[in-house]
Order: sequence, then structure tokens, then C-alpha cells
Amino acid sequence: MSTFRSIEWKGDRLVLLDQRRIPEAKVFLELRTPEEVAEAIRSMAVRGAPAIGAAAAFGMALAARAGRDLAEADQILRASRPTAVNLFWALDRMKRVWEGFSGDREALFLALEAEALRIAEEDVAANKAIGHNALPLIPDEARILHHCNTGSLATVDYGTALGIIRIAHEAGKKVHAFLDETRPRLQGARLSAFEMRELGIPHTVIVDGASGHVMKKFGIDLVVVGADRIAANGDTANKIGTYNLAIAARYHGIPFYVAAPTSTIDLKTPSGEAIPIEERAPEEVTHCGDTRVVPEGSPVYNPAFDVTPAELITAIVTEVGIAYPPFLESLPALVAKAEEARS
Ligand code: MRU
Repeated sequence: MSTFRSIEWKGDRLVLLDQRRIPEAKVFLELRTPEEVAEAIRSMAVRGAPAIGAAAAFGMALAARAGRDLAEADQILRASRPTAVNLFWALDRMKRVWEGFSGDREALFLALEAEALRIAEEDVAANKAIGHNALPLIPDEARILHHCNTGSLATVDYGTALGIIRIAHEAGKKVHAFLDETRPRLQGARLSAFEMRELGIPHTVIVDGASGHVMKKFGIDLVVVGADRIAANGDTANKIGTYNLAIAARYHGIPFYVAAPTSTIDLKTPSGEAIPIEERAPEEVTHCGDTRVVPEGSPVYNPAFDVTPAELITAIVTEVGIAYPPFLESLPALVAKAEEARS
């Protein structure tokens, strides 16, 4: 893989690989204010739950560096996208540092910079641990179906569900990834295929509607997806189309795994019903690039995420272990284990 990270802190600015331009071009954005970071998250220049959490943390460091009102910066960043809980988790961590801080401006900036760097480095370590924890679940020869993009681009590095595929490949397993294209933003076709190509991992891109057919025709061994928010009962919000995939997997008797760091588990949200689902602009559906593909005047509904009910999920792989049902018991135990390891 090339030596860039999707998110790099440069001391006075955050450098992001603009994911809207992949695979046509590798363009880096230089962000210097919390407003610029919030806009990069909103417009999906940076995307993927862990990546937006880390980006927002650096947004707070930028605010402190400029001597800005931190409560205001915090609100601007919180308003950027609603579903991925990692955004709020990271901003809560930053808030625990700045709220009631007693040092001068420089000391406050250094403390927030250090916390943002910790969040970023912990994410990389968590992703590697997720990949290793999942190894026993992956057959030595495995056809794996994946949705959206959950790789290095969606995280600080390595990735969650794609990280599992990568680590299995590096461990010598013969993996073949079937990548859902993931309409309407095409994260699977554009970003996951880009990453798999760079890593030299065998893969095939399919349209979202082909997944049932591919399960039947090729005998998929497992489905692995990421998550934007996992409720206390295991219900999981992830990219739109994940729920359909889980239903198709159940019908075909295929294990369905969710891979996510414990920062994606939201024990305060009891079930999927309470997870806010982002709705995005109709133009994402009505247009492919500059070409209109839906007749003028036809109404569009464009939810960015759906919720897969816990009963369709075989297991949830985290950095501190694998949660199996009943998730109401296994998830709090893993969150406590992660908090203990952090303290
Ligand atoms: O709208 P996106 O592209 O930010 O959605 C991303 C996803 O749904 C990912 O699967 C999820 O954030 C996990 S990324 C490790």
C-alpha cells in the first residue's frame, strides 16, 4: 500500500486525502479550521465512522490552536453528520480534556493535540487487533462479501472489515473479496476496489443487486461489514444496503459478521429504533456524475444508512474480542474491557 494515510496531522493543519476524487486522482486537502473539517465530513471528502471521529478530534485541536471558542467548535463539528457515533465519541473525549482546563492557551492546544493523536493511533491499533481477532473465523480459502468501504480510507489506517480481509490475506489465507459497488456514492466500487488493487488482494466488484445471485452461484463463505453505530442490543447501523445483505445471507445460511472498534458501540442507545439515520441530497441518486439518470420531477428518498437487526448478526468482531449473542450481555463486557485497557 502507498505510504500515505487518509488523515495526517501536520501540527498546524490536517491533511486529508479527498475521497471524492478516488480513484481518478489523489488530491490532498489542507484544513486549518473546525469549519473546514466539518465541511470535509459533511461533503464526504473524509468518510467512514472512525475516520470522521479522528478528523473531528483534530478539528478541535485546530480550534484550540487558533484560540477559538471550543464549545462553539464542538457544536459545529457535532452537526456535520448524525449517524456514526464515533464522531460524538471522539468529541466527547476531546471535551473531557478542554472542559474545565486550567492551563494557558498553548497548554490547552498541546493537551488537545495529544488527545487527538492518541485517538488516531488507538484506531490503527484497534483495526490491526480486529483483523487478528477475526482470523479464526476465516476459512483458509474464503470467498468474502463486503459492503461499502471500511478500509484504510474509512479509518485512520488498516480498516475494520476490509482490515480483516487484508490481515487474512497477509496471513496466507486464499481470500477473494466480492465488493458491493454501494450505490449511490459507490464507496465499494471506487474506494474498496482501489484499496484491494493497491494491496494486491484478489477481488471482484459487483452491483448491489447481484449479492443474492453471487451467494447462490459462488458459495460465499462469509459476509463482513463495518458499522456506524451499534446499539446496546446489537442492532447495527451501517451503509444503506447492509440490511438487505444480512437478509440474503440468512436465507443462504451464510455467517454475517460486523467488524468495528468498541468506539462504535453506543450502549446509551438501547436499540436500532433510536439510531438517527442520515438522509442525504436527492442529487446523489438522480445523477451519476454530471448525468441525470432519474426523470426530472420524480421524488427520491435517499437514506445513507439502514439498521440490521441483531438477530441477523452472527457476531461482532472488536479490538478486544468477539461478541456473540446475546449482545445485551456480550457488548457491555467488551466495552468495559476496552475502557480498562485504555486507563
Ligand atoms: O457514508 P459513509 O461512506 O461514511 O458510510 C461508511 C460506512 O457505512 C462504513 O461501513 C462504516 O462507517 C464503517 S467504516 C470502518
